[in-house]
Amino acid sequence: MTPVLIDCDPGIDDTLALLYLAGLHHVGGIELVGVTTTAGNTTAVQAAGNARWVLDELLVDAPVLPGRPHPAQTPLVTTPETHGPTGLGYLDVPAADAAGDWAELWARGVDKHPDLHLIVTGPLTNLAAFRDSHPEHYARLRRVTVMGGAVNYRGNTTPTAEWNFWVDPHAAADVFAHPPQGKITLCSLEVTERFLIDPERLEELIRALGPHPVAAHLPEILRFYFEFHEAQGEGYQAQIHDLLTCMIALRTIPYVDTSTTIAVEAHSELMRGTSVADLRGHWHRSHNARLVTDADIDAAHRELLRVARALAGRPGIR
Ligand code: RIB
Ligand code: CA
Repeated sequence: MTPVLIDCDPGIDDTLALLYLAGLHHVGGIELVGVTTTAGNTTAVQAAGNARWVLDELLVDAPVLPGRPHPAQTPLVTTPETHGPTGLGYLDVPAADAAGDWAELWARGVDKHPDLHLIVTGPLTNLAAFRDSHPEHYARLRRVTVMGGAVNYRGNTTPTAEWNFWVDPHAAADVFAHPPQGKITLCSLEVTERFLIDPERLEELIRALGPHPVAAHLPEILRFYFEFHEAQGEGYQAQIHDLLTCMIALRTIPYVDTSTTIAVEAHSELMRGTSVADLRGHWHRSHNARLVTDADIDAAHRELLRVARALAGRPGIR
């Protein structure tokens, strides 16, 4: 089984990613080693409370620990207007009271699992901090998948920047300038925003979950996200970036990627968080990433329903 650690900022699409990972954990597809949270959609502590709630709903007792409270070099900006006042849309769950050393959890994961897969679906604050606090363990990370960036594509936060890279541009710049052993698989906006859930798909998901108690909460979580996207002119639907990222990370759907060099701007105010891929080798720098350029979105919808149906007959039903 693939050992997986996710660093996330639930956040509504992160929540669907956690539901998916919890389902795979139950059916034996992965071992969910732990969940840590990074500040972005909401605070790291609130995100940890949200993640704990999701895993408790799914009866997964993996540890959940809040990571760094804010970026190292820039004030924290969160986005309640996108994910709701506490990050779960119209649902309110308590912030986590769990405290613990998230970096030690990562280090123990690396020591125990040489094939540990780290998935990051929020700002890269913790990943950059891990390089500072545990450089040897950081270097040994062989499988890292990141949701972030808008590569040679318009941003969703500024004309050129995607949210995760904009929140902590210094961390993103640092990680790609000093990558771990394995190239980072980057799932950026131009691909992840193609994975959309609308009310019809949500109904399909709820039907697939059957009697699982988590299903009853999804409408109030997703409604906030639908309303946000509609207000942005994207239609009454939601882009579920982080769930697609997990499927790509675990190779449960077909996708296409290309080896390249990614760089992120951290100093310019206007271009803050902008990510560029050197697709034609102008920079003559060693490749630090595998940029995902396409993914089978129909397969992603089928995969989500497959895991939801597996959850329907699994723990969590009271
Ligand atoms: O830009 C999309 C990313 O920002 C997703 O990870 C979403 O959860 C938000 O964190
Ligand atoms: Ca996220």
